[in-house]
Amino acid sequence: MSPSGLLVIAALLPVALSQLAGTNTPEVHPALTWQKCTGTGGTSCTTQSSSVVLDSNWRWLHDGVSGDTNCYTGNTWDTTFCPDGKTCAENCALDGADYSGTYGISTSGNALTLKFVTGSNVGSRVYLMAPGSTTEYQTFNFENQEFLPCGLNGALYFSQMDADGGVAKSAGTNKAGANFGTGYCDSQCPRDMKFINGVANVAGWTPDSNNANTGTGSMGTCCPEMDVWEANSVRWKPNFDNLDLTSCRSPPRLPRILAVCLAIVLAQLELISIIAILGQSTCTGTTCSEANSTQGTCDQAGCDFNSYRMGNTTFYGPGLTVDTKQKITVVTQFVGSPITSIKRFYVQNGKVIPNSNSNIAGVTGNSISDSFCAAQKTAFGDTNTFASKGGLAGMSESAAAGMVLVMSIWDDYAANMLWLDAPYPPNKAASSPGVTRGTCSASSGVPSQVESASPNAQVIYSNIKFGPIGSTFAEPA
Ligand SMILES: *[C@@H]1O[C@H](CO)[C@@H](O)[C@H](O)[C@H]1NC(C)=O
Ligand SMILES: *[C@@H]1O[C@H](CO)[C@@H](O)[C@H](O)[C@H]1NC(C)=O
Repeated sequence: MSPSGLLVIAALLPVALSQLAGTNTPEVHPALTWQKCTGTGGTSCTTQSSSVVLDSNWRWLHDGVSGDTNCYTGNTWDTTFCPDGKTCAENCALDGADYSGTYGISTSGNALTLKFVTGSNVGSRVYLMAPGSTTEYQTFNFENQEFLPCGLNGALYFSQMDADGGVAKSAGTNKAGANFGTGYCDSQCPRDMKFINGVANVAGWTPDSNNANTGTGSMGTCCPEMDVWEANSVRWKPNFDNLDLTSCRSPPRLPRILAVCLAIVLAQLELISIIAILGQSTCTGTTCSEANSTQGTCDQAGCDFNSYRMGNTTFYGPGLTVDTKQKITVVTQFVGSPITSIKRFYVQNGKVIPNSNSNIAGVTGNSISDSFCAAQKTAFGDTNTFASKGGLAGMSESAAAGMVLVMSIWDDYAANMLWLDAPYPPNKAASSPGVTRGTCSASSGVPSQVESASPNAQVIYSNIKFGPIGSTFAEPA
């Protein structure tokens, strides 16, 4: 649309300026390259020049495009600008980000560094943009593809966000869009997002008691999610070897498929029949997934392969088979279309290391498949909500629709990250099958302690490659 066309529409709809794009700090996305591969063995890859964008929730939200009065301070909304979600979106603007100064985010060539604590900022979450675009995220269909980042710490995953950040879905109320990192969703159906589809999450907003910056509103935002990498370790400082809170070995929870939301697709198919494949959907209150619940829109637990949890406690960690004191290259293969299995390899010092095998009675193999998930749920006494919400076939539908690449570093105010690296849930004996996930203690992971003990922790994601199976690295014969 031409600029004059935009002006005409603005004149016709004078109140339609909504969830504005602020101009106090120019928004400049840090450049990041990645590679698209064809052929075999990692020899035919072409460089893609993309960039990353910071999620909208981390940004300064102020009155008007160039105002300097906060619309949101600490963990509360200004009731003058934000008496309700719609008015708030009309009044308030997301501003540009000082990536390195405020948020500790920097890039160099093919490497992205996310620092844990920078000034008063804790953690961050960024999305990969489409090459050359400031309005669309890159989307990936990973059916029959493999994916290879060198991950050191933090979370790298696919989320079925709208590529435009939810602009089209907002019917004109989201003016900021992907350029300002809007539209996040995942299968925990997060209710801490300040805006969902162009409406501020003001209704029912309750500031969190344990976090001065966050709260939850009555709206949540759900979508399928495929976690490629969730791990801590390696870049934690001080020394990784110290057996303290910050140096806990945390097994990679890999590949971990968090959620497939087919339940709601079936329920809503008639209502939104033009949406053949489930993407982002908004939930309210108890229809959002709740922690520990098998109800709700999404499968919160998912199906995971964590080597430690699957009975091999000497596979991943400092000095172990996959040595977390050194750089790790992680390859994830999504085999089949639709996907029937997900395989994992590590490459370290030129050596390809297949994932460890399950040592749990009744569960075999070293990859994720529907039968692996079913056997694992039975062995661990868990309900197989992964299957009831669609299983691998459901995940495959989301992949085919295209998913956005998310990279973050975070600490966990809801569950102290115990689900990743410690005995969890707390009401089960640590010795029960499937409960202990790593070497961290059940009392570890309290965010205030993690933040003060390891402010300099960081994660570096580098050399991301994506392509058909066999194209990104030389697979063992
Ligand atoms: C753990 O995995 C490694 C590599 O696959 C293997 O050599 C080792 O025997 C496994 N240990 C156990 C206890 O299964
Ligand atoms: C989830 O379950 C654990 C163990 O029973 C409990 O400690 C925790 O508070 C529960 N979380 C929520 C949000 O209910």
